[in-house]
Amino acid sequence: KCLSSVSHILGAHKTGDVVTVKGWIKSLRNQKEHIFVDLSDGSTDRKLQICVPKHSGRNLTTGASIIVSGPLSLSPKGQLELSANNIEVCGKCVVTEGYPFAPRKQYTPEYIRQYLHFRPRTNKFSALLRVRNAATLAIYNHFDSEGFVNVHTPILTSNDCEGAGEVFRVLPESANLVKSMMKEGQSEDEVYFNRKAFLTVSGQLHLEAAAHGLSKVYTFGPTFRAENSRSRLHLSEFYMVEAEVAFVDKLEDVTGCVETLIKKVTTEVVDKSGEDVERCQDVKLGCTWVDKKFPVVAYKEAVDILDKNRDKFKEKVHPREGLGKEHELFLVEYCGNVPVFVVEWPKEMKPFYMRESEAGLVSAFDLLGPNVGEIVGGSLRENDYDKLRKKIPEENSHLEWYLELRKFGSVPTGGFGLGFERYLQSLLGIGNIKDAIPFPRWPHNCSL
Ligand code: 4AD
Ligand code: MG
Repeated sequence: KCLSSVSHILGAHKTGDVVTVKGWIKSLRNQKEHIFVDLSDGSTDRKLQICVPKHSGRNLTTGASIIVSGPLSLSPKGQLELSANNIEVCGKCVVTEGYPFAPRKQYTPEYIRQYLHFRPRTNKFSALLRVRNAATLAIYNHFDSEGFVNVHTPILTSNDCEGAGEVFRVLPESANLVKSMMKEGQSEDEVYFNRKAFLTVSGQLHLEAAAHGLSKVYTFGPTFRAENSRSRLHLSEFYMVEAEVAFVDKLEDVTGCVETLIKKVTTEVVDKSGEDVERCQDVKLGCTWVDKKFPVVAYKEAVDILDKNRDKFKEKVHPREGLGKEHELFLVEYCGNVPVFVVEWPKEMKPFYMRESEAGLVSAFDLLGPNVGEIVGGSLRENDYDKLRKKIPEENSHLEWYLELRKFGSVPTGGFGLGFERYLQSLLGIGNIKDAIPFPRWPHNCSL
């Protein structure tokens, strides 16, 4: 008897093989002499049909976890089916005692979100988690094949990379520890690291240091933002894919990296996980754009387009205040529902580290995608020591180390950060970002 997964059984086994499989009962059908069970173990969206003799299946209920063994045969419909000759209930599930999901019933994402701890066993969300996994692997594979080195940038940091004041502060909980470490004149929130520490909003600055020794680097990990936003596009904790490339002095080189990454990852996910993609999307957007060139629009040009269409918006565009969500989404539609790069932004709208191109503008871009708007932000970095020194703001005044990168063997670098959940949201037509991450955190919600 070989222990196997449902995915492996349905994909690689044949009639006559004797297997053992473990999983959860998705639904049951009682017939005259047999009970038919649809079993899932999360390895695939498909279910394995199990035929159980009535006398050995009396204690089976929907939702229960079981271990079953027996030979495989073909059902009258031609599907591979397991005839149980041994079945063991691992954990019972009494549906009437408050389990929130009934078999074969459809639920809204909002309903399912109330039960984050049960959500991974729903068909739709388990498919999302497999797609997330496939996209994660595709991202690592892509960077590896392009010669990038993965660098683990720190979660605890003393910088606020984006300078937007959206950092979470980190403090030791133990009053005893604080007391024992306290030095003369120190405030409590500086005790542990001798300065204030935060959860990272971006690994970029550390990635730039790494790029100065390894040329092409990337990181993929959690980032944190203390924003008071409960929108369908914001999380307090989200995953970001960030890359930094040295010896780059054209913005096209960075946007090119982003375009290749997105197209390659999307193609791989759709090819390898098509069934799961079908299952977990909220709205079927398709991604016909994988074969198209992503358009590039200058910020100024984007403002002109929006201004000409001002009657279509609730808020007209204010060129000095950036783009609203409705404006971003309009631009994507205007460009044929293809992700679009908006480049060359007014410098006052962007963080200190970006390189100035011409008077008042920085070599920066946002990539706007269908259903979401901004998915990626990136730029060339200021690598002139004197210019950068003048631009470092007060809250990042201790960034001498970052400045020093420009003193010794400095090279021009450029890079970007892709919001992983926003990317999934755009690819899968997911309405709310909270449905693109296993355990979402947002204001007033961190209990599970
Ligand atoms: O545009 P952002 O702030 O760029 C940076 O952090 C750069 N330092 C990245 C770099 O160049 N290495 O954030 C990057 C992306 C955004 O485009 C968006 O997709 C996502 O991160 N993002 C969020 N996703 C979910 N919830 C939030 N609160 C997010 N804030 C940003
Ligand atoms: Mg941004």
